[in-house]
Amino acid sequence: MNIIENLWQTDHIIRGWLKEVREDILSELHDPLAVAEKTSRKDLVTNVDKANEKKIIKAIRSFDSQAKILGEEGQGDQVTSMQGHVWIIDPLDGTLNFVKQRDNFAVMIALYIDGKGILGYIMDVMRNRIYGGGPSLGVFTQDNELTKPTNLHLRDGLLGVSGPMLIHDKYHLQAIDEASSGVRIIGSAGIEFIQVLKGKQNGYISHLMPWDFAAGKILAETLNLSVTKVDGTPVDMLSSNDVLVSTKDTQKDILNMIR
Ligand code: IPD
Ligand code: CA
Ligand code: CA
Repeated sequence: MNIIENLWQTDHIIRGWLKEVREDILSELHDPLAVAEKTSRKDLVTNVDKANEKKIIKAIRSFDSQAKILGEEGQGDQVTSMQGHVWIIDPLDGTLNFVKQRDNFAVMIALYIDGKGILGYIMDVMRNRIYGGGPSLGVFTQDNELTKPTNLHLRDGLLGVSGPMLIHDKYHLQAIDEASSGVRIIGSAGIEFIQVLKGKQNGYISHLMPWDFAAGKILAETLNLSVTKVDGTPVDMLSSNDVLVSTKDTQKDILNMIR
């Protein structure tokens, strides 16, 4: 199937994968987890992260023979360029929340073709909401289309941030937060992106890997939000970045404060 010519059908198929993954997660929710530390005691992976990634990769491979897959848990491919069909997946975003709260975690899937964002999906598992679509479709949940958020200034809305970046006052983040209406820390990039897509926060700043922002970037840009590095330059899709997603006016306000 030609994906570009059949975007609505592809959208339907990806949402189907996500629904299945959600059912798997819910069936494991009250079972003991196998939890392992990756780089630190705060950087965890569970049996559920790995099982989700395996399932999503299998689904992508049977759907798209040209797929190159970048997955957080390393069961995909070594992706070194954005040429061709590049699928970027975070099989469970907010693993620390999943382990400690069984809440506030997401599953994310993005498709880029020759470097252009085509489709992005963020599933808020516990609220049973999938935010998905792309530049040709718009952004939809199960029951409505999202409208472009109001272009608020920094002072007029809430700003989501990464806890460690705030603690270490990177980019004078404490002053930036002080200039906003208030700071929020959720602990899942996916759920933070959703808050910005819905206009409930006017921005989010965090140090992120490609799978943390690939889907959110497509959805945010579709809704006229800006997604750049914190210094305003373009993000690199294949490495870690300090990312700012925000309304255009909030981005200008933040750039004025850090420059
Ligand atoms: C993490 C979460 C967290 C962000 C970290 C990510 P993970 O994702 O999105 O909010 O601050 O940088 O690594 O590891 O739970 O998928
Ligand atoms: Ca993540
Ligand atoms: Ca993850």
